[in-house]
Amino acid sequence: MVTDEIVIVTENRPLTGGHFLLSLHAPRQARSTRPGQFAMVRLLGDSSALLRRPMSIYDVRPLHGAAERATRSSADGMTGIKPGAASGNGDRSELIQLLYKVVGRGTQLMSELRPGDEVGLLAPLGHGFFEEEYLEQAKQAGEIWHVAGGIGIAALLLPAKSLAKAGIRQRLFFGGRTKEDLVGVEDFEPFMGEIMLASEDGSRGYRGYVTRPLEKALDSGYGKKLLLMACGPWAMLQATVELAKLHGQPCLVSMENRMGCGLGVCLGCSIRVKGEGHGSYERVCTEGPVFWADHVIWEKESIPKV
Ligand SMILES: Cc1cc2nc3c(=O)[nH]c(=O)nc-3n(C[C@H](O)[C@H](O)[C@H](O)COP(=O)(O)OP(=O)(O)OC[C@H]3O[C@@H](n4cnc5c(N)ncnc54)[C@H](O)[C@@H]3O)c2cc1C
Ligand code: FES
Repeated sequence: MVTDEIVIVTENRPLTGGHFLLSLHAPRQARSTRPGQFAMVRLLGDSSALLRRPMSIYDVRPLHGAAERATRSSADGMTGIKPGAASGNGDRSELIQLLYKVVGRGTQLMSELRPGDEVGLLAPLGHGFFEEEYLEQAKQAGEIWHVAGGIGIAALLLPAKSLAKAGIRQRLFFGGRTKEDLVGVEDFEPFMGEIMLASEDGSRGYRGYVTRPLEKALDSGYGKKLLLMACGPWAMLQATVELAKLHGQPCLVSMENRMGCGLGVCLGCSIRVKGEGHGSYERVCTEGPVFWADHVIWEKESIPKV
């Protein structure tokens, strides 16, 4: 159930490259979160950031134990890790964690939050990765491949945990501009059979776009039944969707857009999707943020550059 609450910051941990992990004491919202959902954060007491900022719910955790968990970088390149037991989204969850990057005024103010500060939190929002239809498809696939670009990684941890719980094999392809963008890798390690990292400057993993190792893997895994799940910048999403189509693999995408209300009222977050005539519109905040890739009309202008 969606609620609008004033919640307390328990930790706001700086990571590399202007990223932070914000922990909020929000038991009711944490317990009703499903993988792939997001929250709208309202910064109280500063009139320069009136609108709420949408943020993926990165993780939900019990109150004790979150502080010991590290979101930090690990060894370069491909790592071979056995799938582990999933944890997290349970009745004892009290914390909502948001993994974010400072890009403007709102996220700058978020980075200044200290333990004990209050924020407004509207959550959980959206239609996540694991509504019944997606879970069914995931079970039918031999393997799930997650494809993340930059802070798009934040949408994928809870889905990865719940897939691991269902015993589904997973692989992560994660790219950023530099190694500083590759945050949270260790959080994924227990749930992934393999992790392939890429950075545009070659400072960690494959040098170049993450879609190149993805393409190679798709070529070599010819005939495998997969489900791709992608979240990241527009160009990366578009390239991933094209590769998935070329290889005949289904693909889910978690879309990002500017948001006003987060509740389906203002229509500000609408994107073009297939429908009658020239197509129709659906709201990222309500029908999304997760869509089947072939339902979206992949035109540059369908997500306005904000
Ligand atoms: C469903 C959803 C989930 C998101 N999850 C995360 C997350 O987990 N972590 C995270 O760091 N960011 C996430 N974002 C993006 C985040 O909402 C924006 O970075 C943030 O609102 C920027 O606020 P600002 O005031 O700092 O920047 P602004 O000053 O408002 O904008 C700075 C720049 O950030 C970009 N931007 C602003 N708003 C958005 C937006 N809604 N979507 C995409 N780009 C935007 C634009 O390029 C803009 O020029 C998510 C967005 C959506 C829609
Ligand atoms: S943000 Fe208002 S309708 Fe989606």
